[in-house]
Amino acid sequence: MQPYAFLLPLLLFSTSTQSMALNPPPLAKLNNKTIYNISKALCWNCWAESIEFLFAHNLVRATHWEMPLFWDPRLEAYARSWAEQRKADCRVAHSFPEGGFTLGENVFWGGGSRWRPADAVQAWADEEKDYSYADNSCAPGRVCGHYTQIVWKSTRRLGCARVACDDGDTFMTCNYDPPGNYVGERPY
Ligand SMILES: *[C@@H]1O[C@H](CO)[C@@H](O)[C@H](O)[C@H]1NC(C)=O
Ligand SMILES: *[C@@H]1O[C@H](CO)[C@@H](O)[C@H](O)[C@H]1NC(C)=O
Repeated sequence: MQPYAFLLPLLLFSTSTQSMALNPPPLAKLNNKTIYNISKALCWNCWAESIEFLFAHNLVRATHWEMPLFWDPRLEAYARSWAEQRKADCRVAHSFPEGGFTLGENVFWGGGSRWRPADAVQAWADEEKDYSYADNSCAPGRVCGHYTQIVWKSTRRLGCARVACDDGDTFMTCNYDPPGNYVGERPY
């Protein structure tokens, strides 16, 4: 079963070309525009920033041929409430205590106001360079968990929020369900 097979109805729904119905494009042809369109279709009633978060995540997942994530308004509401709580101090902190995560969560802090959703996802995804799939480990002293959560195979839903902090810096947080990063398991 190809991971993208279930999306074909969505694609067919959004295209009128007969040839696509008869000959779905090979997976290797999935490009940014297609992934963007899929993300948009999986982000009902979303505003632009949410689509930006979702698209950036699904681009990274597509490099491993993984199912795209759906946008979940409940996760977004959760992320939004945590972001609002961080507005005053802009502290890079998790909403869950260590060992008590019921959702996956990635947080980002950036100095200044120019940081966009794609910048946060890029920063997390850049951890890939420190991750070794062969022995499922991270380079000494490095962090890989943000990256592995993004590409965690059994994660299905995403919700994120971005807030401009009172001091002019930027805080972003994303929540994932089901959560990833189970010790001893590979992300994909
Ligand atoms: C897709 O977009 C990313 C960043 O948005 C870019 O780095 C990459 O080159 C793009 N890939 C293609 C095939 O256009
Ligand atoms: C993406 O969606 C737009 C607007 O619906 C459409 O014109 C375009 O052909 C689609 N592109 C792909 C690659 O699916």
